[in-house]
Amino acid sequence: MTRIVVFGAGGRAGRAVTAEALRRGFGVTAVVRDPLRHAALGERAEVRLVRGDITDAASVAGTARGAVAAVHAVSPMTETEAATAGFTRLDPAFFARTADALCEGLAAAGVDRLLTLGLFALLRTADGGYVRDRADLFPPAYLPFARAHQAGLDRFAERGGHTPDWVQFVPPAHLDPEAPARGTYRVGPAARAPEDPAGRLAYADLALALLDEVERPAYHRQAVAVTG
Ligand SMILES: NC(=O)c1ccc[n+]([C@@H]2O[C@H](COP(=O)([O-])OP(=O)(O)OC[C@H]3O[C@@H](n4cnc5c(N)ncnc54)[C@H](OP(=O)(O)O)[C@@H]3O)[C@@H](O)[C@H]2O)c1
Repeated sequence: MTRIVVFGAGGRAGRAVTAEALRRGFGVTAVVRDPLRHAALGERAEVRLVRGDITDAASVAGTARGAVAAVHAVSPMTETEAATAGFTRLDPAFFARTADALCEGLAAAGVDRLLTLGLFALLRTADGGYVRDRADLFPPAYLPFARAHQAGLDRFAERGGHTPDWVQFVPPAHLDPEAPARGTYRVGPAARAPEDPAGRLAYADLALALLDEVERPAYHRQAVAVTG
């Protein structure tokens, strides 16, 4: 059975990707920090539910072995934590450290394809600026999170060829966990938001985009915008 490994499989994007992968007949290694908290994920025989830490290269290597592709669906904090506590506890290097651990761990495991998720704040607006610099589109209080995400994306470029074949999918402002899949999405260059960056996308449709990319790789070593 062809297998993918999903880091953050218990989160919103991770659950949607896992469900779509199972629907298509993949096996999934579902990496979570605490398997007891995500026991339901392991009920399907095709799911290998394992404990892991995406910031640790040895853990990445041990959990990714045997997969054809890895999906990074990890966030260092939930929206509720961000809304209540702000970003005082956010490690600004979280996504950069994660990029390093993934690159080293996946190389050790022999996995050469990586799909990551970005933040809409990193998209460009039509006038050439960044969404993150537009207070009407992105709350300035969330800038530490945008910088941390940007540092993660930059790290892939800084590592030159010492990365797996990666692609980052950047969603629009509203990724909706409740919305049913429409069964469609569009992908375009992240350097220019293809449409309103404040648009909506169901997590289920984001998962379609990611699994289509696993099955038919079209983008390499770049960030792309995915919209509804
Ligand atoms: N509009 C946008 O641009 C937008 C909107 C939403 C999300 N995003 C991005 O999409 C990605 C996924 O977001 P999401 O909404 O799915 O997040 P989420 O629902 O908060 O889930 C994040 C998951 O990350 C896991 N995690 C945290 N630290 C970890 C570690 N060290 N090792 C392994 N797993 C760890 C958590 O695991 P536990 O279950 O163990 O706590 C959690 O399940 C993030 O990069 C986020 O910034 C972008």
